Formats: sequence, C-alpha cells, structure tokens
Amino acid sequence: MKIDHNISLKPYNTFGIDVRAGKMVIPENEKDIINYLEQHSLKKRQTFILGGGSNVLFTRDFDGTVFKMGIKGITVVHEDDNHVYIRAGAGESWEDLVDHTVEKGYGGLENLSMIPGSVGAAPIQNIGAYGVEQGEHFHQLEAVSIREQEKRTFNAGQCRFGYRYSIFKDDLQNQYVITAVTYRLDKQPVLKLDYGQVRQELEAMGIDNPAVQHVAQAIKAIRTRKLPHPDQTGNAGSFFKNPVVTMETWEKLKARYPDMPGFQAPHDHMKIAAAWLIQHCGWKGKAVGHAMVHKNHALVLVNLGKATGAEVLHLSRMIRMSVEKQFAIKLEYEVNIL
Ligand code: EPU
Repeated sequence: MKIDHNISLKPYNTFGIDVRAGKMVIPENEKDIINYLEQHSLKKRQTFILGGGSNVLFTRDFDGTVFKMGIKGITVVHEDDNHVYIRAGAGESWEDLVDHTVEKGYGGLENLSMIPGSVGAAPIQNIGAYGVEQGEHFHQLEAVSIREQEKRTFNAGQCRFGYRYSIFKDDLQNQYVITAVTYRLDKQPVLKLDYGQVRQELEAMGIDNPAVQHVAQAIKAIRTRKLPHPDQTGNAGSFFKNPVVTMETWEKLKARYPDMPGFQAPHDHMKIAAAWLIQHCGWKGKAVGHAMVHKNHALVLVNLGKATGAEVLHLSRMIRMSVEKQFAIKLEYEVNIL
C-alpha cells in the first residue's frame, strides 16, 4: 500500500485544481484498508474517499487523509440463463468496466459509456445518462466501515438509490470505503434508445437493428460532441443537478417559457433541464476569471487552465443567483464541494 504526505491533488481531480492533501493512502485490497484503519483512528471530517476525482471541486487544501482507491480487477462471479454478474474493484475505471461489458455483448451499462470516474464512486451518486441509471443494473457492493473496520455488503434497496442520490451521500457519507461493486447484466439486452438524440444518432450511423456495441458507439459520439473531455479541459461533468419541481410549478413555468425542456420524474414531478435555465440567463460560454461555462453545454463549468476552486465556486454562485432571480428555482450542486 502506498502512502504519500503533503501531496498535490491536481492529477487526482478532473477539474485540475491544485490543492494539497496532508496524506494520501492508496490501498490495493480490502486488507490494506482494514489494517490501516485498525492502526489509525480516523475522524469523519478528516477522511475523504477519492475515486476518479471526476465529481469533486476542491476549494482548499485538505488537512486529513485522502483514500485513493487502488483496488482493481473485473471478474464474472455468477451466471445463469439470463444474466451475468460482473464484479469490479472500486479502483477500476468506470469507462473500462463499461467497455468490457459492451465488448462481451452484455446489456445494461452501454448508455453509461464514457462517464469519467471510478467504479467505487458510481453507486455513491447513482450515475446516470441517456435514460439509464447504474442502480437499474446494480446487484450489490462491498464496503468497509471506517469506524468498526468491518466488511459489509449493501444491496440496491439498502443503497436507497434516487436521482444522483444514495445513502452514501447522506446518512452514511464518508463512513464506508467501497471496495467492489457487482452489476447484473443481461444476456439478451433490452436497449434503451428513447432519450434525446440516441435514435437519431443510430440512424445517422446507418444502423437499424442496433446491438449494445452500436448503442455505446452512438453515446460516445454524442458525448464527444457535447461534453469537454477532462484530459483536454478541466471539468467535472454536470455541475448542478436538474431541478425536480411539482407539476404545478412546471405548468406555470411552461406557460411562460413554452420551449423549456422537462422530463417526467417519479411521484408526479418534472425534472427541468438546468442547462436550459443557465443558458437562458445568458451564461453559456461566459468566463469569470479562469472559470467558464462550457460553450457547448451550459451545465458544465470548465477550468480554463489556471482556475482555483474558489473561482469556479464563485462562478457557480453567480449562476445560481441568476437562475433563482429569473425562475425562482434554487439549483443544487451535483459535484461535491470540498
Ligand atoms: N440544453 C440546453 N442548453 C445546453 C445544453 C442542453 O438548453 O447548453 C437542453 C437540451 O436541449 C436538452 C436538455 O437541456 O433538451 C437536456 O440536455 P442533455 O440531454 O445534454 O442532458 P442534461 O440534463 O443537461 C443529464 C445528466 C448528464 C448526462 C445527460 C445525458 C444531470 C445533472 N446530468 O444532463 O450527466 O450525461 O443528462 O443523459 O442529470 C453528469 O452527471 O455529470 C452528466 C454529464
């Protein structure tokens, strides 16, 4: 297990923000974690578990201990007539896991192609894209409790998945280190093609009877066009969540702004496209200092190169204020601000 002191976190967050951590521990297996926790009593606020660093904005140096998950491995753990269960170490890249399942022709994760980040982080915010959330194919996760140093498994119900939500963002925040996640994939894939431009993209590709590989290819093409790649431009994907409002609020807004996009959400609510709200307030492509609202997607804030976390946060606050003033909607952060 590798341990570093006073280390820059710049290479470990996709925003490319240069802050320092007091200590970084990189466990390579569950035993490393348990041994480390037995020897050091860690307090909740002094511990931060870092996956791919693709959903975090660091605004200051972090005094405590960062766990950077290094647990690897992708294996089939069970198979029946209809499903295959694939278990991946928390430190695997999410993109690699999806590519692996797609290559084998297993269905379920293809719409989640090209999402930056690690496998261990995926259930925490229940990552989702193009009409699919990881929770729909989640079987279970394994984790170690920081306080008791005990191993525990969680099934989907226990994770309480919701829109960009799980119990690990709430009651159990920073209390468990996720070590592995198992997904249940379909041998006879049921494709989900109804979100946004997925069907049009497949048509443009000349595919009329798509397989999972084609869907993954279409999603990658859409994402490449719209979203900045963190290797070239620092960003953390959507900075805000899409706000969920009551039907009453939705109808009032829709009467005033007929072209405002919205999607049906559970319990008779509507999810409004935050990107549209932000664009409508004139923010798309605008820069403040070294932080900017991406020119192709208003929900994504980017680091022009030298941005500090405080600058990005400042821009996000200005956006929130405009959206609240114009639409009386409070945008919630999707990224974790530290
Ligand atoms: N739109 C605008 N202006 C823009 C961009 C989009 O008005 O600059 C409109 C589009 O026309 C569309 C609507 O907003 O009608 C929704 O846009 P899009 O399909 O790009 O999706 P999104 O709601 O902005 C969500 C996820 C993304 C995910 C996409 C695709 C959240 C917070 N974000 O974005 O996830 O890739 O759907 O499924 O739910 C992420 O979480 O980091 C992320 C990138």
